[in-house]
Amino acid sequence: MDSICVQGGIALQGEVPIQGSKNAALPILAATLLVGERSFIRNCPRIADVYAMVSLLKAMGCQVNWQEQGILVDSSRVQGHEMQSEAVKGMRSSLCLLGAMIGRCNEVVMEHPGGCVIGQRPIDLHLWALGQMGVAFGETQGLLSATADRLCGARICLPKPSVGATENIILAAVMAEGDTLIEGAAREPEIVALCGYLCACGAWIQGAGTACIRIRGGQRLYGTDYTVPADRIVAGTYLFACIAAGGNIFLEHAPGEDMGAVLTVAGRMGARLCTSREGIYVQAPPRPLSTDRIITAPYPGFPTDLQSSALVAAALGEGVTLVEETIFENRFRVVEELRKMGGRMEMLDTGKLLVRGVDTLQGALVEAKELRGGAALVAAALAAKGESVIRGCLYINRGYENICRDFRELGARVIGA
Ligand code: EPZ
Repeated sequence: MDSICVQGGIALQGEVPIQGSKNAALPILAATLLVGERSFIRNCPRIADVYAMVSLLKAMGCQVNWQEQGILVDSSRVQGHEMQSEAVKGMRSSLCLLGAMIGRCNEVVMEHPGGCVIGQRPIDLHLWALGQMGVAFGETQGLLSATADRLCGARICLPKPSVGATENIILAAVMAEGDTLIEGAAREPEIVALCGYLCACGAWIQGAGTACIRIRGGQRLYGTDYTVPADRIVAGTYLFACIAAGGNIFLEHAPGEDMGAVLTVAGRMGARLCTSREGIYVQAPPRPLSTDRIITAPYPGFPTDLQSSALVAAALGEGVTLVEETIFENRFRVVEELRKMGGRMEMLDTGKLLVRGVDTLQGALVEAKELRGGAALVAAALAAKGESVIRGCLYINRGYENICRDFRELGARVIGA
């Protein structure tokens, strides 16, 4: 079923466990290739992007078995270096296999991980950085090929933070000869989780979570048992949905310590928040307050992945909010759909949207165009008066285990995939 039906206008109540992080699990699964032994990855989210990653690992000879508490990956018999599968055509997150395969096999042939709805998604930083480590790139029959006769550590100064490029450098550097120093590294919690897994396997990495990461290559790696942290973006999605629809909820396992900028914006909207080791308690305001400006930025700034969800809350807020998207060039696709629900938004300039809060949104038939915008439309439908149907929810399944089940646990009337 590719659509979700929501009966809106019901405040959310109750508690919901937050799944494991998609953007931590994907690079960690890629990193299991480096180990050549069995790793057990706990709290791995059961989502489409992980399933696609698993199909790639299997295609390269890994044995992968889902178990109740997580997923067991045995990469002792990896052979081949060609990664082609319909499952990952254009799947951006397969890109982190580039560094892992170079680290493991010194070569890889893969689909060009193309752009997507939210932007061009270039890979120039990945290619440039790995080139500094001795990787040569080419193109064969439209495929990207990479080989490294000798993978050497290097000092790499990234001109701007890139999560994926930082991850690929780390994955290759762990297996390289000598030390690698990354300056201008991305600081996202998902980088910390990846380095946590690699260090648990025996890697030597310092500075994860800062802009300066040092990796000592050539350490012997061993299989390990590692737990993926909870997904801060899923937690933030549900947090803003509560602010938009009203009510009070508990987000179990939500990593409040990694959500500072998100909690600041939620607080400015009038939400009452209580964070603990167990999760985040959210009490929505009667109506979201205007926050004047929401600007996305690399971590620890406000995450671009929550821009659409925050936009929905602002669309129901008092006053006017300026939303600035600084990471991706086309991340306002949800606006045309929110207008169908009565949202009042005006594009001022590239990446700048003026949101005029309205008292209510009306249920409507809307279309998800990409993952996070689709999840934001579900939040808008929960807040809207009347019934909404959101089509294209296969996009949403890429990053949310079961958004319908989760919102039903919070008292919403949702039917769908
Ligand atoms: C990761 O994408 C996440 N995906 C994204 O989440 C997230 O929005 C993004 O980081 C935040 O920066 C995964 O972790 C799987 P980047 P990534 O490299 O690594 C430009 C979601 O919804 N850039 O940090 O692809 C790029 O165009 C997804 O879960 C280059 O110019 O993002 C962007 O403007 C969406 N050249 C900026 O850097 C490059 O070689 C940050 O991109 C690479 C990136």
